[in-house]
Amino acid sequence: MNYYFQLARQALCEAVRLIGEGEPSVIAVPRFICSDVPAALRDAGHDVVYYEVDHSMQPALSESAPTCDALIAVNYFGFPSSIDDIVTAWGIGRDRIIEDNAHGLFSRDSNGVPLGTRTLFGVTSFRKSIRVADGGILHVNDGRWALHPTPSQLDPIRRRASTGFVLRSCASALESFTHAPIMNIVRGVKRRVHHSVPLSTSSAWKPLPVSLASVRTLEATECSQETRRRRAEYESISPLIESAGGTLLFPVLPDNVVPYGVPFLGDQTVVRTVVRRIFWRGNEVFSWPDLPENSYESSSWQKNVYLVSFLQ
Ligand SMILES: Cc1ncc(COP(=O)(O)O)c(C=O)c1O
Repeated sequence: MNYYFQLARQALCEAVRLIGEGEPSVIAVPRFICSDVPAALRDAGHDVVYYEVDHSMQPALSESAPTCDALIAVNYFGFPSSIDDIVTAWGIGRDRIIEDNAHGLFSRDSNGVPLGTRTLFGVTSFRKSIRVADGGILHVNDGRWALHPTPSQLDPIRRRASTGFVLRSCASALESFTHAPIMNIVRGVKRRVHHSVPLSTSSAWKPLPVSLASVRTLEATECSQETRRRRAEYESISPLIESAGGTLLFPVLPDNVVPYGVPFLGDQTVVRTVVRRIFWRGNEVFSWPDLPENSYESSSWQKNVYLVSFLQ
């Protein structure tokens, strides 16, 4: 059962609320994470503890299990997190693991199981993979937990798109039509205009409905076509990154994975070369993530991760 939210962090906080039966909880979050996630959890009244992630982008399971009420396992960039290994090594049940599939719209594991459905609760931020103003999904993967009835305040609503979003959508459409890197020019403007939804306010965790237009766009997105497109982008952009001196975080693209982009390690020189080489393709290159406030504790490699995004 899927429930739509304006943002995936709201879906995540809802999953935490359901697991903790509304009580403040201790949530284990990977240290390699966008700061918006722990910020939303804290704003919702929960405590956050961090666990380490290794170079293979999997939890460092040789370390002791975090003491927590629930754990967030991230499918980085659409590549599956090893949920089975977390359960075995750390003894944390699937009913306490939230599969954070923010990056993995349409992606599946090696058995063909859709990401976001492998534990009791999963979340997907589809606004990261298709051009919509907003959009998060809470996957409730056990009928006994279905929200009856769907809270009516979560019904998708008609929301006027922001100027920034309209501008980016037009530029994206024009880019597809002309094959000129118009998005790269618009991105310069975007840095000034900022986001289309209020992302970083202290109440960003509170459940809000998604825009109807976002749901319609998602429903109209052809999964097999989008899968082909993103996998083909991965195969064609990866060699350009490697020849620029970048190190791919995922040198192999497994069957069933539908990547959000190509993540790589590199210094400023490598990034500039990559940006130059793919300029005419129009893909955005950015540093990921905006690490949490205690990022001084993060490993140095984690501060040098960049992403070539496939968002069109
Ligand atoms: C791994 C991960 N999980 C969850 C989120 C939250 O997604 P949203 O921005 O839709 O709230 C993000 C992005 O901030 C993310 O990178």
